[in-house]
Amino acid sequence: MEREKIYDETKLFNGSDKAGIKDCAKHLADGEVVAFPTETVYGLGANAFDAGAVEKIFMAKGRPSDNPLICHIGDKSQIEDIVSEITPLARKLIDAFMPGPITVIMKKSDAIPAEVTAGLDTVGVRMPSDPVANSFLKACGVPVAAPSANLSGTPSPTNARAVMEDMDGYVYAVIDGGDSVFGLESTVVDATGEKPVILRPGAVTKADIEDCANGAAAFAGTLEAGQTPKAPGMKYRHYAPFANVEIMDMPKGAVLIGDEADDALVYEVKKPDFDTMSEDDRQALVDIASPFIHREKEILKSNPFARIGVFAGVEVKALYEKLGDKILLAHTEFYEYGNALDVRAAAHSLFEGLRHLDCQEVDTILAQGLTGGGMATAYMNRLTKAAGKKGELLPDMPKPDRPSRGELPLEAFKDTYTAQILFVDDDNTCLSQACEAVMTGLLEKNSPYDMLVSRDIGCEIYCESAGITASDGIGPDQGIVKAVSEELGRNISHCRSTRTDPALYDASDLIIAVRDEHAFEIIRAFPQIKDKVFSLSSFAASCGLVFKDGGGRLVSISIPDPRGENEATYTHTVKALKAWLELLFPYLIKAMGAERS
Ligand code: TXA
Ligand code: MG
Repeated sequence: MEREKIYDETKLFNGSDKAGIKDCAKHLADGEVVAFPTETVYGLGANAFDAGAVEKIFMAKGRPSDNPLICHIGDKSQIEDIVSEITPLARKLIDAFMPGPITVIMKKSDAIPAEVTAGLDTVGVRMPSDPVANSFLKACGVPVAAPSANLSGTPSPTNARAVMEDMDGYVYAVIDGGDSVFGLESTVVDATGEKPVILRPGAVTKADIEDCANGAAAFAGTLEAGQTPKAPGMKYRHYAPFANVEIMDMPKGAVLIGDEADDALVYEVKKPDFDTMSEDDRQALVDIASPFIHREKEILKSNPFARIGVFAGVEVKALYEKLGDKILLAHTEFYEYGNALDVRAAAHSLFEGLRHLDCQEVDTILAQGLTGGGMATAYMNRLTKAAGKKGELLPDMPKPDRPSRGELPLEAFKDTYTAQILFVDDDNTCLSQACEAVMTGLLEKNSPYDMLVSRDIGCEIYCESAGITASDGIGPDQGIVKAVSEELGRNISHCRSTRTDPALYDASDLIIAVRDEHAFEIIRAFPQIKDKVFSLSSFAASCGLVFKDGGGRLVSISIPDPRGENEATYTHTVKALKAWLELLFPYLIKAMGAERS
């Protein structure tokens, strides 16, 4: 399905902005699409009575229109406009769990157009408990048909920023209500019969439903080939990030936190204290973390350039750090969701964690598996789909771009820090200037950045170059100006040389000499800063990026000096620098204490 931008920009309203919510409700009633927060995930809503408006949702999502949408309401009295029959079972589920993270499937009324239900004679009804969702849905007055607000096939959005990434320009507005509490979509229950059939597991668990229905509930079976799915959404590729996802089994016999807990949604994260912990606790922790560490080592053995995302508890990162294997750490990007066995915390962060790690351009995400009968069933259902085979896009589904995270909405930047990388050579008229040009381009392309210590703190990264024996104020070599302009589309003719000095070293968080001898020279003169000085090749080696030639001998990064050579040599030099710096880029920003936000 061809997606077409229909707005110059999508409006972003804060959930506490009453006038904004009113404006959104009015536009929705008039046929526009508005994304809104709920306690499960963000939804992409349109007037459920208006077939034309509902079509716009499918356009924005790039979703095939044979997948039915759920109708969202702000008041239970709206149910009778949507359905033609409320079975005794449906009544019990409505009374027990609405408002809340449940969708109840009932026979539809004629007022609901076939576009909403993809031609089915049933309809899903959901009343969210999120206060912003509730005030928006009340203001709309009409039932709001809404799927999750992601581009079809990508992880569902659990905050306004993730919605903006997928939907900017495709919908009228996004209402920002902060992070979704549960982080996984609602439990979908077919209540048209006598027995509840769970079509999609969620935060309302099987046990919850059985308690309420006074009898057994069944999960809808997996589909045979050619069978029409009961929940048609089940047949599409879902929740898949760019990276490959592998599930790391939790230790046998470990006890989950929050599998059946309901309102106790307080995530008090306990960091492990290795000095005081008991031998048993230490062993339990090792059992949780070792599948990650073993698997990562295995991957790195077959591909020393692999970059690994770890979606796990704080304990796992703590153990990686305790191990202190610098190479392992250099290759790892962590997303810590809370304590390892806290399934509510894992569910809350799963989709955001996948999006975040994708944005760090990791090749593989190792994610904590958590097995249990309640919330864990919902968590594993989504995680298993994310880990499913790639390339299952239907021909008319859009191929998502690897996410690049846009500006953070509203108050997201609490503080912004800066970091600086300095490239050094001899006279700062050729190679170091080219490095600065390449790096500046990469920094722009991959911005914005956060500090590794806290995702709440933004980081601006600057790039400079200088020369050990440079005279100040000399223009760059004409050959390199031409090659940089042709290869990178950047004009560096106005750049002037700078001589290195202690103040510049001091202001830089990372100093990269183009050649080994210049790195040695800096370290000899200023041994106290040796930890932040590298040559291109020693930096690569420090990250475990070792290159071998055909005979198995180590090869170091060597960049020829093009000066005095022909044009082709200049071009080759810029290409080589570009290739190296692109490869080293994620490691360089990490060495400055930052990551892509
Ligand atoms: O938590 C949620 O349910 C979120 C928020 C926004 O409310 N919505 C959501 O919608 O996840 P969506 O469209 O991404 O997933 C709805 C699921 C799909 O798997 C769909 O096939 C199924 O519910 N579904 C909807 N109507 C149905 C029906 N009449 N019969 C069977 N399955 C249905
Ligand atoms: Mg969805």
